[in-house]
Amino acid sequence: MKLASRLLLTLVVLALALHAQDTIKVGEYASLTGKEASFGQQSHKGLTLAIEELNAAGGVLGKKLELITEDNQTKPGESATAVKKLISRDKVVALIGEVASGRSLEAAPIAQAAKIPMIAPAATNPKVTQTGNYIFRVCFIDPFQGTVMAKFAQTDLKAKKVAVLSSVSNAYSVGLAKFFKETFTANGGIIVSEKNFSEGDKDFRAQLTAVKAAGADAVFVPSYYTEAALIARQARDLGLNVPFFGGDGWVADQLLEIGGEALNGCYYSTHFSPENKDPVVQAFVKKFKARWGANENPDAFAALGYDAAYVLVDAIKRAGSTEGPKLRNALAATKNFSGVTGVTNIDANRDASKPAAIIAIKNGKLEFLKTVAP
Ligand code: PHE
Repeated sequence: MKLASRLLLTLVVLALALHAQDTIKVGEYASLTGKEASFGQQSHKGLTLAIEELNAAGGVLGKKLELITEDNQTKPGESATAVKKLISRDKVVALIGEVASGRSLEAAPIAQAAKIPMIAPAATNPKVTQTGNYIFRVCFIDPFQGTVMAKFAQTDLKAKKVAVLSSVSNAYSVGLAKFFKETFTANGGIIVSEKNFSEGDKDFRAQLTAVKAAGADAVFVPSYYTEAALIARQARDLGLNVPFFGGDGWVADQLLEIGGEALNGCYYSTHFSPENKDPVVQAFVKKFKARWGANENPDAFAALGYDAAYVLVDAIKRAGSTEGPKLRNALAATKNFSGVTGVTNIDANRDASKPAAIIAIKNGKLEFLKTVAP
């Protein structure tokens, strides 16, 4: 009897171990709910679509991929908890997340310590990959994005005097404001006013009154879409009618829903535009709509989530293994990987240098203006 139950236990353990090897587990942490749910859901949809396609094509190393998702609810602290769970409970071989720099910075030290490669789809603050050699991203970084928008202000908007309004409690906003100012002033531009706010603020009238008095030709707002849209509305109410412009934090359907007409004549930079007529982009838009619904348009975060999965699987293939160190080395060696956001080359800092797209807002619609090469 004792022997029989021991045998049974051994069999159960063996079966579990075999089952654990059936799939290759990929961990995702994302803001699926909460204040920035729009970003997390977009990247999640892109990532899910890619994993489903990869599995339909046979998976990788003879196994299917299994995506395990944790929602950080957009809350500070939750990304660290989510990633700890994914690593120790689920034994994921790699992590995909986050689209926001702040939340990527929370999770990165944990991934690094566990030697589990992490790919941030859209976190653009340079510090994210500086955490360590297991941390990668598949998007450009903010020194580039800041330069693109500084040159755009000078060349396209013909702005000589610019005001900057940024969020002090957001790593992305602080960084992008700094990189923008560096290039803009190095090229002879003048920053006439610099004002701050905090995440979740709703009233920007005091800052905007000061900006108006400073006589800016244009206003740079490196923030997330909610604040950017409210700022534009309150500026128009105060009679401040110069162009406002920002970066990839403006990417969300809600930008226009909240900002409405106040955003006409405004601009932002991003990683991808579904309006781009490139056949690769259009094929992706079609697949995305087929999977998630005809009214669903993939934005930059969806496209980067999608590319992150393909970059990961390409590296697993080349590594011939899912062991952390081998996978890390293969990811670091990613060159000329062609995706829906352009070509990914992982550089010595584990960043990707990629083109930026500039979007114009005209009559309540987004228009793809141009692409700026790195
Ligand atoms: N690049 C931005 C960041 O690093 C992307 C982003 C913007 C993510 C807005 C979420 C919200 O934070």
